[in-house]
Amino acid sequence: PAAVIVAIDGPSGTGKSSTSRAVAAKLGLSYLDTGAQYRAITWWMLTNGVDVTDAAAVATASAKPVIDSGTDPSAPAITVDGQDASGPIRTQEVTSRVSAVSAVPEVRTRITELQREIARAAGGGIVVEGRDIGTTVLPGADLKIFLTASAEARAARRSGETKGADVAATKEALIKRDAADSGRKTSPLAKADDAVEVDTTDLTLDQVIECVVTLVEEKR
Ligand code: C5P
Repeated sequence: PAAVIVAIDGPSGTGKSSTSRAVAAKLGLSYLDTGAQYRAITWWMLTNGVDVTDAAAVATASAKPVIDSGTDPSAPAITVDGQDASGPIRTQEVTSRVSAVSAVPEVRTRITELQREIARAAGGGIVVEGRDIGTTVLPGADLKIFLTASAEARAARRSGETKGADVAATKEALIKRDAADSGRKTSPLAKADDAVEVDTTDLTLDQVIECVVTLVEEKR
């Protein structure tokens, strides 16, 4: 089968990561979690004393961390300056700060270049998940998917993943982050005109995976 480039975008809690990983594993494609890269740069800023509310400081520091993403769907890994960052990038502190950091144009330029390099190097095809993959990073992707779900469903899924999380508080934080990601000036969260929209509210994860696998197979 031909190498395919698949872009999967959408807000948080729509099942993007689980779906993307499973589809890539099933079809023998590489996988890139672009949210992890924005989380990694945010984590680096926080641990290196950069004031993440100061866009100019974030812009200046954005070239410094060396971010390396693995592309194996069965073991997604990310390192920052050679150090494994898979755990630290998932903290609530990083989650609450990542939208501010990822809105800074210098950060986006840097990370977008990394993403295009990785997609170019993935000889057998790749599934790239994020917010602006179909619109900005890989506008020529063979297949673009935009996943959606109700805020209730998204909050329930997210709080199910986090021990002791409160659904109402999770929902509020989710809505706030999505609003920031959709409202920013530089490549906001958006559905590409030629993307296939899949509403996952009433679907199981397996149904979403099957739906996307079918769409990819039609393109190969
Ligand atoms: O997907 P995840 O929730 O890990 O993404 C974390 C954050 O990274 C998003 O809320 C968004 O601010 C940023 N992001 C982005 N563009 C992408 C992927 C993620 O701005 N392509």
